[in-house]
Amino acid sequence: AFYFYNDDKNKTSQDAPIRGLAKENNSSTITTLPIPEILEDQNPDEKIAEYDLIAQKSTSVFVNDVETETYGYNGNYLGPVIKAKKGEEITVNIKNALGDEETTVHWHGLEVPGDVDGGPHQVIQPNESLQTTFTINQPAATLWYHPHPLHKTGKQVYKGLAGLLLIEDEVSDKLPIPKDYGRNDFPLVIQDRQLNQNGKLIYDLDMMDVMHGKHGDTPLVNGANDALLEVPKGKVRLRLLNGSNARTNRLHLKDELPFWQIGSDGGFLEKPVKLQELVLGASERAEVIVDFSSYKEGERIELFDQNVRLMTFVVGEELDKETEIPEQLTTIKTIKPEEATKSREFVLQGMGHMVNINGKQMDIHRIDEEVNLDETEIWEVSNPNGRMAMEHPFHVHGVQFQILERNGEEPPENERGWKDTVLLMPGENVKLIATFKHKGTFMYHCHILEHEDAGMMGQFQVD
Ligand code: C2O
Ligand code: CU
Ligand code: CU
Repeated sequence: AFYFYNDDKNKTSQDAPIRGLAKENNSSTITTLPIPEILEDQNPDEKIAEYDLIAQKSTSVFVNDVETETYGYNGNYLGPVIKAKKGEEITVNIKNALGDEETTVHWHGLEVPGDVDGGPHQVIQPNESLQTTFTINQPAATLWYHPHPLHKTGKQVYKGLAGLLLIEDEVSDKLPIPKDYGRNDFPLVIQDRQLNQNGKLIYDLDMMDVMHGKHGDTPLVNGANDALLEVPKGKVRLRLLNGSNARTNRLHLKDELPFWQIGSDGGFLEKPVKLQELVLGASERAEVIVDFSSYKEGERIELFDQNVRLMTFVVGEELDKETEIPEQLTTIKTIKPEEATKSREFVLQGMGHMVNINGKQMDIHRIDEEVNLDETEIWEVSNPNGRMAMEHPFHVHGVQFQILERNGEEPPENERGWKDTVLLMPGENVKLIATFKHKGTFMYHCHILEHEDAGMMGQFQVD
């Protein structure tokens, strides 16, 4: 059951459950998709940005008009978008207003030194603040931020703590792709939450959740269930984040409308990849362009995860600005296996409370791997098949890597760009290559947050 929402498994996308039907009949209560605000830079200097983030408790209403406790950054649920420029120095003042829980803010996908990575070492105690400063030195990308307290990440993300960090650079500035935020460039934070019983968002784990991670019956996009988004008739860019604790998304559009993936976790792909279905493991991102120009105004195109409708696009008026899906997006310098000075193996294994990497569970006082600064390494990650084999999205902090091989072969076209998380189905193995350019202590872990919290995480030290 963990793969599916609480719906009939055999339904096709045509007769997928229409959760919002009642709402749509009563036009006054249609949910429009919330678009996260862009956080205001408090520093007038062009090259320096300063932001305030407050992790706080609040309430939200997701379904059936029921109010439930949620967490958010500067708001009720999720957080604002932080827009960063390559080369910019950013200071974030983080306040922990959660009352009685420690937290951290981790910059997922950001290549920064370990002491500002926001992992389990950079704890912010209740009612304390932390000022963190880093410089953006990587290509345009859709990254994100979320809490990372040791053994307690799952609950805080589940309750709503997550936001996007968008990096722009000279490449993204020049490309003629859609980039008008909120008009033809939309972030979609896709999550599933368990709300069916009573509309309350409660983080408790049953046996299934302990095994496979917390899955829910209700899909949310930007915190809204089954919402509508008006999009221009034409090309639209979607910045997709699988922000679920555990669920793998299998995304497709009505009529199997094709779309073009233009970016992976760490930035643009060299060339757009035409797809009809996109698989995203927990924490993976993709930027895609959908062309709605063949639809009439008022037509509805639904976005599905497997057989469940996540949200609906409603085609509106054309925008005056022409945008394109360029044949070439950027150039990526491939890291050659010959450049690697070392290779390491990571075996994902165990189940339930026993999930581990290389037979070890997370110990914050133990460094598992020592990496030399500025060196390139090959990491071979495997998820051996077995009786209770599970999928695991493997994530590495502090670097963007390239996938050399998936199951002994060249990776699929949409994985030939920068990545920080790679999904391994049971029986799969991948070879990753990365250059470690920042000093410090970093994590590698399964991004099924209940696996991470159980200890499916290790630490590497770059010196
Ligand atoms: Cu998304 Cu260790 O992080
Ligand atoms: Cu991370
Ligand atoms: Cu896992």
